[in-house]
Order: sequence, then structure tokens, then C-alpha cells
Amino acid sequence: MTLKSITANQLSFVPNQDFVNQANINLQKFNELNKKAQDNYELYWAELAREKIDWHKPFNSVLNQKKAPFFTWFEDGQLSISYNCLDRHVKNNPNKIALIFESDNGQTIKVTYKELLSKVSQFANALKAINVKKGDRVILYLPHSIEAIVAMHASARIGAIHSTVFGGFSSKALADRILDANANVLITADGQHRGGKAMSLKTEVDAAIELLGDKNPIKHVIVDKRINDGKCNFVALRDIWWDDFIANKPTECTPEFMNSEDPLFILYTSGSTGTPKGVQHSIGGYLLGGILSMEWVFDYKDNDIYWCTADVGWITGHTYVCYGPLAVGATQIIFEGVPSYPTYSRFWEIIEKNKVTTFYTAPTAIRALIKAGADLPKNHNLSSLRLLGSVGEPINPEAWKWFYEVVGGSRCPIVDTWWQTETGSNMLSPLPGVQPLKPGSCVAALPGIMAAIIDESGNILDKNNTGYLVITKPFPSQLRTIWNNPDRFISSYFPEEIGHGKYYVAGDSAYLDNDGYFWILGRIDDVLNVSGHRLSTMEIESCLASHPKVAEAAVVGRPHEIKGESVFAFVVTKGGVRPTGEQANSLEKELRDWVGKQIGPIAKPDEIRFGDNLPKTRSGKIMRRLLRSIAKGEEIIQDVSTLENPSILEHLKNKI
Ligand code: PRX
Repeated sequence: MTLKSITANQLSFVPNQDFVNQANINLQKFNELNKKAQDNYELYWAELAREKIDWHKPFNSVLNQKKAPFFTWFEDGQLSISYNCLDRHVKNNPNKIALIFESDNGQTIKVTYKELLSKVSQFANALKAINVKKGDRVILYLPHSIEAIVAMHASARIGAIHSTVFGGFSSKALADRILDANANVLITADGQHRGGKAMSLKTEVDAAIELLGDKNPIKHVIVDKRINDGKCNFVALRDIWWDDFIANKPTECTPEFMNSEDPLFILYTSGSTGTPKGVQHSIGGYLLGGILSMEWVFDYKDNDIYWCTADVGWITGHTYVCYGPLAVGATQIIFEGVPSYPTYSRFWEIIEKNKVTTFYTAPTAIRALIKAGADLPKNHNLSSLRLLGSVGEPINPEAWKWFYEVVGGSRCPIVDTWWQTETGSNMLSPLPGVQPLKPGSCVAALPGIMAAIIDESGNILDKNNTGYLVITKPFPSQLRTIWNNPDRFISSYFPEEIGHGKYYVAGDSAYLDNDGYFWILGRIDDVLNVSGHRLSTMEIESCLASHPKVAEAAVVGRPHEIKGESVFAFVVTKGGVRPTGEQANSLEKELRDWVGKQIGPIAKPDEIRFGDNLPKTRSGKIMRRLLRSIAKGEEIIQDVSTLENPSILEHLKNKI
């Protein structure tokens, strides 16, 4: 179906010449890469893999499709990801700073590549001493910290498979993951600092293990002393402090050279069913995706100070904190805290203090910062910034413009990167020295990534037709399977119903505009069908958010007797005062008219609820399933344990 209306702001921003001149990829190189990928797909990837990765044993086999869709890449090659991220930089530049840890309380710790390699090696030796071997699963439940990176790399160094569980998940979620991964070792901390408060993590670990009862596979719990409040419960023979665990262990450890296709990690993510999926990534292909996107999308240069705000517990923290930046030898910020503590200027202070050049964050953080203090960046010298990045959801043009003008001083390109836990690395994004930017568009596929929009039957759609976003050819950083569940891997990503199992189906709807730019409309299940018209919740949200009185909006569908579905909106107003009574009624009318005018009467929300905030996970994702339940007036049965601020639900549930 032809798209009725598109995001209001169709401005385009041409990259400035100074940036283009120094960019790793310019238009000519971009075209050459694309041509190479078109002409000889395997040779294209093989050359890049040989150039960017240090192989212990070179590969001959490039892409093996014999067991499609269980594709393999570089399968007869051997490498160590730990060697590629650490040892090879230590050889050239041992004293370069790898990590700048900015803690919640304002303390800063710097770690060089040499020091990081020692820490990783020592921890790896300690893991070996408790008999952790190649292929064993190790669960990490740690705050965003140097230790989390050390533990991930140490596991990788000895060939163990890590599964990092975000520190905001509940004991139940942790228990489910421990069981599914059947892990013997768990690495955690006594607690974590967030916004000036110390919170226990170890109590969740104890509760998770208790929940597992007889089924508990965990034999060792290693505990980093982070909050040190003297209250940490210890179980004899099972629990050990991090410092005691590594005591007297050598700080050199020969890396285990692994097959390229050996699993590197499992990362659980939610799917369309209630049970999380253990997304399994390989080593060689995943590493290649991380390196190329660091160089191409983030235009990585040796003297950059790079900062990705994602927690290491999510895929962005895996690829764009733990592996990608280290693989290219970057200096990066690891930020423990929250953007609001001690004030809403925290991000801007860190950028100014460390002269950050590259800043990668999420639209939800940007909107929160606009709401709390749109002018605050102006009090800081942010002139070191040269590139901005956005990830996780479509960025509404209003937030884009503020990020571009106020944070980036109208000089920094914004790379709006579309990708997923499953794709391992950026798939769609502008390359900052190549294409003009359009606020809200992820622009184009990276060279070698064959993205397309299809209809259900698998026909590739032309411009301005909404359809399913797919990747038509296997790519190196793609997930390999769902841990313990190959059938779910096939039914989730190569479904018969969409494209007859021929393509990787991302689960997002999207379209290409007249210039061939990609616009992501949201998850398939976030697209509404109102009186037979396809409407994107994202599109209505973006429209609401562009209203001068609106700070943030979320839109879900509510079953409707006549229309099929109706539009239901949740809105947070600017200025922090939630309208009630007559004021709320009049603003509701104003906003309905606004949407009616901007998109069309069909998109007008039937109802708008005003809240102090929207329900979000700790990682900042709006909990849409929860909003759908509220919109339907259902009892909330979802797990709200990852909800940052449960109290806000009351306002959203009742029209007051
Ligand atoms: O719907 C897309 C959205 O986030 C989904 C992937 O979520 P997750 O696996 O948690 O990974 C998030 C970080 C990579 C996608 O299916 N998404 C991600 N990035 C964008 C996006 N939607 C629009 N624009 C983006 N830049």
C-alpha cells in the first residue's frame, strides 16, 4: 500500500566539506565498496576479513550456505577476539588509554591497553583455575564497569561463552537465563551505584539461585566489591570476592585460538512470545561487523575519544563498548551513572572534561534531556564533538534537530544507526562523509548489506511502499542461531509466512522514500490498522512530539469495534506539570486536531492520557506492551521488574 503520509520534516543536511575531506569513507569509496560487493559478494567480505582481522589460521572457506539458514563465515579460520582487541594494540601502543571510567560519584579511573590486557589475562587465569573451559557458559550480572569488560574479555580469551544479563533485570529473569544457558559460573558485584544510590545486585543473585532450587547449575559466584556496604551475604564454598579470586594469578595468559564459528556469546532478548531468546553470535563474523562499522559509521580515528552510553548488558554495549571500540584501538568512556545525576548536565560535563569526539546515545535519552533542560548544553564547551550517533528507535525530527543544533553545534553529522541484537552490528546508517542526512531516516545499508523492503510473498517493493524490512543475503555479523532452539531461530527470522523463508526478516516495517532513503516505521506489531489504513505508531508519536507543548509521546493500538483498531496516545508535556481536568481536556482536543492536521483525520488518537513520564525499561525503551494493556483497560500481568519508575503507571491507567 502506498504511504499516505510521512514524517513531517523532510529537510536534508549535507555533510560539511571539512568532514567529508577527512572521512574514512567518501562517496567514491562508498561506490567502490558497493560495486565490489555486487560483483563478487564472497570476495568482498573475504578481503575485508583478511585486512581487518589478525587471523591465527587463515580461512579459505568464506560463506557456507549448505545448511541454510544456518550460514557460516570463515569457518576454517582461527582467531582470538581477545588478541584482536588487546594484544595487537599492546604491541603497537601499550600506554594508550583504552578505558576512561566515569563513576556515578564523579571519580575517574583510566586504564591503558597494557593494563587492560593484564587484568583480562589475570582474570582468565583465575577462571581456568576453577576449571572453566572452552565452550562453557559464564553468566555476567554486573554494573556497567571496567570489571564487566574484563570479565567478558577474559571469558572470550579462554573460549568460554559469556552471557551478560543487564543489571536491571530481576532475579526471575536472571534465573531463567542461568537455566537456559546451563552456566556453572556467575560473575557479579555486591551492588551498583545509580544516581547517588547504592543498590544490591548480590541479593538478586542469591534469590535467583534459590528460585532455581535443585536445578541450579551455578557452582561458583565471583563477586566484585563495588558498594562495599558490609551487608553482602556470602555462601561458603560457592561465593568468592573478585580480589581473592584473582590473587596470585599470573597476569599473562596465552589466548585460546578459536574457530571463527565458535560461539562468542549468548545475549537474551525479547521476542514476540513471552520467553526471551538466547541470541547466539559467532566470533569472526561478529568481530568483522564491529570493526567495519567503527571505521565506516563512526569514522573512527586514532585520536578520537569515543563514548557510547549503552550499558554493557545490551547488544549496543557488547558491540559498541566491549568489542568494536577495542578492536580498533579506541579510547572510550565507560559511564556508570545516569544522565540526571547529580544534575541534567552530567553528559555535557563528561563530554567537556574528556574532550569527547564521538557521542552515541539513544533518542529516549535525548528527549529526556530536552525535557529537563534543553538549554543546559549551552553552558558547556562541546566543541570537541565531531560526530553524533543515535540507536534503538526512530528518532523524531524534533529530537534530531535539537541533538544536531544544540549538542552538535550544527557541525556534527548524526549517524542514525538501525540494527538489532540479532544483526550484531549496524546494518542501515548514513556514512557521515557520504550521504546528506534526513532527520529520522537511517538512510542506507552499509556496503555489503543487502537490505530491501518486501511484501508478504517476498516481492521486493519499490519506493514509497511500506513493507517488511529484510536482508536478502547472509552477512557475517548475523546471529547464528537461538541457543537451544534452532526451530525458533528459523520461525523467527526466516519465516515461511513472510518471504517464504528466503530472507532474514528483521521484524520491522519500513519504506524507501523517493531518494531511496530507508525510513523505519517500527516493529511489525507496532503498526496499526485503522479502518483499513496502515498507520505507524512511530509516525503519530513523532507528530505529537513535534507539538510545542509535548515532550514525549507513545502510541499504541486499541481494539475498536468498527475501525478494527484505534489510536491511543500517552503524552508527557513539557515543563513537568501533568495537565488534569479541564486543562487536560482542552490539550487533548488541541493535540487531536494537531495530529489530524499533520497526518490526517484517520490518525487522530481516540484517547490521550497524560502522565508524568512513560513507562520505560532501565535501558530506556518504552514498554509498549504495558501501554497496550493499559489502553485496553486490562489488568497488568507483564513483568514490570525492569520498569525504572513503577509509580507512574497510576496516572496512565486512569483518566484524571
Ligand atoms: O525496531 C528496531 C529498533 O530496535 C529494534 C532492535 O532492538 P534491539 O535488538 O533491542 O537492539 C537495539 C539496539 C541495536 C529494531 O528491530 N531500532 C533499533 N535502531 C533503530 C531502531 N528503529 C529505528 N531506528 C533505529 N536507528
